Amino acid sequence: MEWGTQITLSTGAKAYVLKPTLNDVLMTAFKRVTQVIYPKDISLMIFYSGIKQGSKVLESGVGTGFLTAALAWYVGNEGHIYGYEINEKYVEVARRNLELIGLADRVTIKNKDVTQNVDEVELDAAFLDIPNPWDALPQLNKALKPSATAVIFIPTVNQIIKTTQALLKEGFIDVKVFETTLREYQPNPEALRPKTFYVTHTGYIITARKTKQ
Ligand SMILES: C[S@@+](CC[C@H](N)C(=O)[O-])C[C@H]1O[C@@H](n2cnc3c(N)ncnc32)[C@H](O)[C@@H]1O
Repeated sequence: MEWGTQITLSTGAKAYVLKPTLNDVLMTAFKRVTQVIYPKDISLMIFYSGIKQGSKVLESGVGTGFLTAALAWYVGNEGHIYGYEINEKYVEVARRNLELIGLADRVTIKNKDVTQNVDEVELDAAFLDIPNPWDALPQLNKALKPSATAVIFIPTVNQIIKTTQALLKEGFIDVKVFETTLREYQPNPEALRPKTFYVTHTGYIITARKTKQ
C-alpha cells in the first residue's frame, strides 16, 4: 500500500499506513535492555556536539542502542560510530536493534571498557552514558581532535559535580550543563492543555570542548 492510505482494521477501526520515523522505530520496535536516552535529550546532545554527515564518533555505553541509532542516522553513510559496551549481552541486542533499521553498517560495537582503552584517534565527538564518565576522560582526551566536543549524559546532580571537576582537570573548556523538559499538549481545540502525565526527570547533559594538549 502507499504511505498515507486509510485502512479498516478487523475491529472496524480506521487506521492509516504511515512511514515510521526514527522515533517510531526506537519507541516501538527496539528491544530494550537498559535505561535509554529519550529523544528530548538525544536531540540537544546531537545539536551541541557539532557532528554532521561524515563525522567519526565515539559512544559509550551502547546499552540498548537508542543514542547509537540516532548518531548513526545523523552521520550518514560516510560517517561512523565506534561504540564501547562492557556487557557482551547488550552488544548483541544493540547490534540486532541497529540491523532492524538498516544502520548496523555505520556502527562498530566493541565489547570493551571505555575507561581502559579507546583504539580510535582523531574523532569528531564523544558521547558518554556510563555511571562514572570522569574515569573515561583521559581516553577521550587521546581519542578526540582538538576542539571536538565531549557530550555526557548523567542522571544525578552528584555526578554533575564530579564530572565538571574532572573535565576542567583534564583540560576541557567551555563546560555547559543542561536539563531539558518537554511538555506535550493534547491537541484538542476545545480543551487545549498539556497532557496530564509525562516524564519529569531523565538526566542532565554536560558538554565540553577539548583543547590542544
Ligand atoms: C544506560 S545504558 C546506555 C543506554 C544508551 N545510551 C541508550 O540510549 O540506549 C549504560 C550502558 O553503559 C555500559 N557501561 C557501563 N560502564 C561502561 C564502561 N566502563 N565501558 C563501556 N560500557 C559501559 C552498561 O553496560 C550499559 O549498557
